[in-house]
Amino acid sequence: PSVVILISGRGSNLQALIDHATQTSEYQIRAVISNRPKAAGLDLARAAGLPTAVLDHTAFDSREAFDAALAEQIDRFDSDWVVLAGFMRVLTPGFVQRYLGRLINIHPSLLPAFPGLKTHQQALDAGVRVHGATVHFVTPELDHGPIVDQAVVQVLPGDTAETLAARVLKLEHVLFPRALADLCSGRLRWSADQTTQTVQGA
Ligand code: GRF
Repeated sequence: PSVVILISGRGSNLQALIDHATQTSEYQIRAVISNRPKAAGLDLARAAGLPTAVLDHTAFDSREAFDAALAEQIDRFDSDWVVLAGFMRVLTPGFVQRYLGRLINIHPSLLPAFPGLKTHQQALDAGVRVHGATVHFVTPELDHGPIVDQAVVQVLPGDTAETLAARVLKLEHVLFPRALADLCSGRLRWSADQTTQTVQGA
């Protein structure tokens, strides 16, 4: 199976996804697309010999116009999966609908807890004892799609948002490639009936 990966920044999850592809061939990365011209992840992609594209969202008048151009770029690479790896743009319902069932994201909390931004500070403020990361299908409602897989860390005394983020990030790098590979192989798949949408093991 083939994937296109969307990024906005550092690209540490992208690197983990690249490493897994190299080691296992469980999926093939066709291209990396960034909405930020200076995203460090673009250099990681180039270093891995992957095609890259930049689509600067500030050059577009509306979310709809940006998402239409983004879809055009993605479709050039004709991939099975579209993977958001630190892609920091809210996507329009039309875009999400176009890729529904093959569009996934990683979010740095144990969803449904702490959607949105500053998740590690949210976790500390709430006083939870466990925290983590979630890979989920993207649906029109932000950070609410069916959960593919999760990884858990303990919240330790003295944790700051930074120390917690660093521990979660390490786990993200294991979780994300594994979740993607499970979807690519069919070991996990989205199953929907009238009332619920869940991810089931095959
Ligand atoms: C990660 O924490 C991810 O969960 C969130 O954005 C961050 C991206 O980091 N969606 P990186 O660019 O993969 O290093």
